[in-house]
Amino acid sequence: MDLLSSKWILNLILCSLFIGVGGNSVEKKIYVHLNYTVPCVRLLNATHQIGCQSSLSGNVGVLHVLESEDNLDWVLKSGPNPPYLVILESPLFTRSIMMKLKNGSRRVAGVVVVAPNANPLEAFSPHTTCPNENSGVYSEDYDPALAHCNVTVWNPFGNGLAYEEFDFPIFSLKDDNDTHVIRQCYMEHNRAVNGSTPQYPLCAMQLYSHMSAVTNTATCMRRNDIDFSISPEMVCDPLGDYNVWASTRPINNTAKGHKMWESVVIAAARLDSRSFFFDIAPGADSGVSGFVTLLAAAHALRNATQEAPPNRTILYAFFQGETFDYIGSSRMVYDMQNNQFAVDLDNVHSVLEIGQVRKLIENLQSAAGGLNISMDEPSVSQPLPPSSFQRFLRARPIPGVVLEDHQSAFSNRFYESMYDNAEYLNISYPPNMTPEEQLEFVTDTAKALTEVATMVAKALYMQAGGSEPQLSSIKADAQIVTRLLYGFLVRSNNSWFQQLIPSDLMSHLGKPTNFYVGVTQQSSEPTLLVQHLLANLTGSTVNITQENCQNQREDENDKENKHMYYYMWVQGAAPPNSTQREGFCIRSTVRLSKALSPAFDMREYTSKDYSTWTESRWKSIKGRIFLVASHDLEMLTLGVGIAVLLTSLLLTYVISSKADMLFSSGREPTNATY
Ligand SMILES: *[C@@H]1O[C@H](CO)[C@@H](O)[C@H](O)[C@H]1NC(C)=O
Ligand SMILES: *[C@@H]1O[C@H](CO)[C@@H](O)[C@H](O)[C@H]1NC(C)=O
Ligand SMILES: *[C@@H]1O[C@H](CO)[C@@H](O)[C@H](O)[C@H]1NC(C)=O
Ligand SMILES: *[C@@H]1O[C@H](CO)[C@@H](O)[C@H](O)[C@H]1NC(C)=O
Ligand SMILES: *[C@@H]1O[C@H](CO)[C@@H](O)[C@H](O)[C@H]1NC(C)=O
Ligand SMILES: *[C@@H]1O[C@H](CO)[C@@H](O)[C@H](O)[C@H]1NC(C)=O
Ligand SMILES: *[C@@H]1O[C@H](CO)[C@@H](O)[C@H](O)[C@H]1NC(C)=O
Ligand SMILES: *[C@@H]1O[C@H](CO)[C@@H](O)[C@H](O)[C@H]1NC(C)=O
Ligand SMILES: *[C@@H]1O[C@H](CO)[C@@H](O)[C@H](O)[C@H]1NC(C)=O
Ligand SMILES: *[C@@H]1O[C@H](CO)[C@@H](O)[C@H](O)[C@H]1NC(C)=O
Ligand SMILES: *[C@@H]1O[C@H](CO)[C@@H](O)[C@H](O)[C@H]1NC(C)=O
Ligand SMILES: *[C@@H]1O[C@H](CO)[C@@H](O)[C@H](O)[C@H]1NC(C)=O
Repeated sequence: MDLLSSKWILNLILCSLFIGVGGNSVEKKIYVHLNYTVPCVRLLNATHQIGCQSSLSGNVGVLHVLESEDNLDWVLKSGPNPPYLVILESPLFTRSIMMKLKNGSRRVAGVVVVAPNANPLEAFSPHTTCPNENSGVYSEDYDPALAHCNVTVWNPFGNGLAYEEFDFPIFSLKDDNDTHVIRQCYMEHNRAVNGSTPQYPLCAMQLYSHMSAVTNTATCMRRNDIDFSISPEMVCDPLGDYNVWASTRPINNTAKGHKMWESVVIAAARLDSRSFFFDIAPGADSGVSGFVTLLAAAHALRNATQEAPPNRTILYAFFQGETFDYIGSSRMVYDMQNNQFAVDLDNVHSVLEIGQVRKLIENLQSAAGGLNISMDEPSVSQPLPPSSFQRFLRARPIPGVVLEDHQSAFSNRFYESMYDNAEYLNISYPPNMTPEEQLEFVTDTAKALTEVATMVAKALYMQAGGSEPQLSSIKADAQIVTRLLYGFLVRSNNSWFQQLIPSDLMSHLGKPTNFYVGVTQQSSEPTLLVQHLLANLTGSTVNITQENCQNQREDENDKENKHMYYYMWVQGAAPPNSTQREGFCIRSTVRLSKALSPAFDMREYTSKDYSTWTESRWKSIKGRIFLVASHDLEMLTLGVGIAVLLTSLLLTYVISSKADMLFSSGREPTNATY
């Protein structure tokens, strides 16, 4: 036993040496742990890594609150106590400043961006100017003159920060108690007054966000494979989730591939969004406005498609992971081409896709209900904006329409940023309303979006070959629309959403939903919510037992319905005078289908056709602030540390040299840290 432990001691000492030299064994006086830290994390594709990371033991730097861009000199050149941990107010979170910090990363330990409580006036988009530039339909082979946004730069405000690589951690903090403590600590200890040098002790911050994966997807997937044989420690996971789809006529989902008589009109919207930081992706305009319109349209079409079914089936599709080179739509098209989906590409009659519609809402509001929606076709030379439809076109020429609120460049000023939120959609409530009252309050935004949904529903019905006389009865419900907007953009933990999900999913409900696609092996909160909402809005309740419902049958002898329908037991509401919820069974055609890039099934990690994005794993994300004592004291600590180390090394050497022959069969210590 003592022999084994001697090896361990050696290991531990080596470890502490590593940390000591890294400069992190400073004397810490006070610690304040930061409570709400949102990191930027590392993502990888076929060729690059993007995002941020700290060293294994966290990055430590002296706090510096940046007051203006001119003030950068202190951080990058003149300040006497590098490295610095730079606190940025959000207006200073610009490409110019971030790229200077990136270039001077020797003196930068990390960056904290203080998220404001209200949206800025000027535009901000950390996305690129040409979203999904390499994975749409235009390429060197197909209409090269339109490729790479040569004709239309879709996202002119894009500064590309979300696709840069930083070798220091970048966190976002809410503007509240945490940031108050930070500012106070900086003002008291670190601020250089009248050009003097600040005196020790100084206020410092430490950020942990070490990322396991490096270089690119091929490298980290290879690491995963190797590691799997030794220990199940993965370093990265493919981005992905599930698409949600449903059809107006039940389709046998067990029989994959071509259906003789089926002709479907695909009505599509995207579910996911992104921002610079990991778990803030409100996607109000870029995602929510579109898929809420589609949900409301599907609801508006429930009666008409049952009472006077149009000749073609409408297939509602909600795609996940579209931000990252069209993961969801490319997978569905791939499955359709390979007889892995309930209908195949030959069955697809046409596509109608709903993109960003915020501006449309705004126009409707300013017209005060007087005007009807007018639809303009963009001029002929206009390329198709970034859209899931592009992936269908890439496979074959299929007719289609993409409904957007912009003629050329996006009208969204906050595309894929943390400001693309409820405030940006002008969703607001009269003061002093309870959450329940807000849920039911029909906002002006909801009224306008209802108009858009009605128009979409009618267009879909006609496209599916429906009969003209039915059109007047198709109307979206403003009450449903306002609840949907509230649920996805303000609070998903509301009484309506609670009724529509099974009890075991209650823990998923919370604040505004985060629409970043993630790497969940099971479906994420947005997917689950849309799945259950779509079932409620297009399906019907059936009076069967919970057991039969969960076993996908209507009674004990039923073996056929599971091919055509999906059954979900939801917890329902509690009747008045009771606290016991009364669950019920919903029968619908709603299904989930994989939204995982085919590149991972084919193990083609350098694929040019399919998304190759993966997310690195990490062990801990945290931050804290403390006071560091003087530099001299630090050196003294280090000196003592080294002396102790040398003594122990000598000691260990003596012990282990005597132990060598006894220890010959011992296991080598794993030194697979990196
Ligand atoms: C990067 O920093 C170096 C000095 O470290 C400087 O010479 C160079 O101009 C900087 N580049 C940019 C783009 O700021
Ligand atoms: C960009 O478009 C112009 C015409 O609009 C064309 O002359 C040029 O070759 C295009 N560039 C590329 C790289 O395709
Ligand atoms: C990977 O991402 C980087 C950064 O956005 C981009 O420049 C590069 O083209 C991407 N590689 C592929 C194969 O899409
Ligand atoms: C912030 O601090 C105040 C008093 O210092 C406290 O009442 C409040 O709950 C704190 N807020 C949070 C979010 O911790
Ligand atoms: C973080 O939360 C803990 C416990 O809730 C509290 O004691 C601490 O003061 C908070 N930190 C800050 C900076 O507000
Ligand atoms: C800084 O300098 C100004 C004028 O030189 C002086 O009025 C002020 O008191 C000084 N502040 C401190 C904290 O020394
Ligand atoms: C659905 O397809 C499966 C497999 O082809 C078949 O066994 C089943 O009978 C079909 N059900 C219906 C209702 O068509
Ligand atoms: C659908 O039909 C039912 C009864 O047939 C009616 O109660 C309901 O209001 C209709 N819904 C819509 C949206 O027209
Ligand atoms: C729908 O199908 C019926 C019978 O197949 C046909 O008579 C009718 O013309 C079709 N309607 C449309 C709009 O295609
Ligand atoms: C949808 O949810 C409502 C509760 O908001 C419920 O009354 C209704 O029966 C549900 N409909 C279906 C088809 O599940
Ligand atoms: C549901 O079925 C049960 C027994 O089959 C019956 O007693 C009950 O009245 C039914 N409920 C409704 C709402 O039809
Ligand atoms: C609920 O309880 C109140 C009094 O406790 C009673 O007056 C009322 O009728 C009850 N309502 C129902 C629906 O049972």
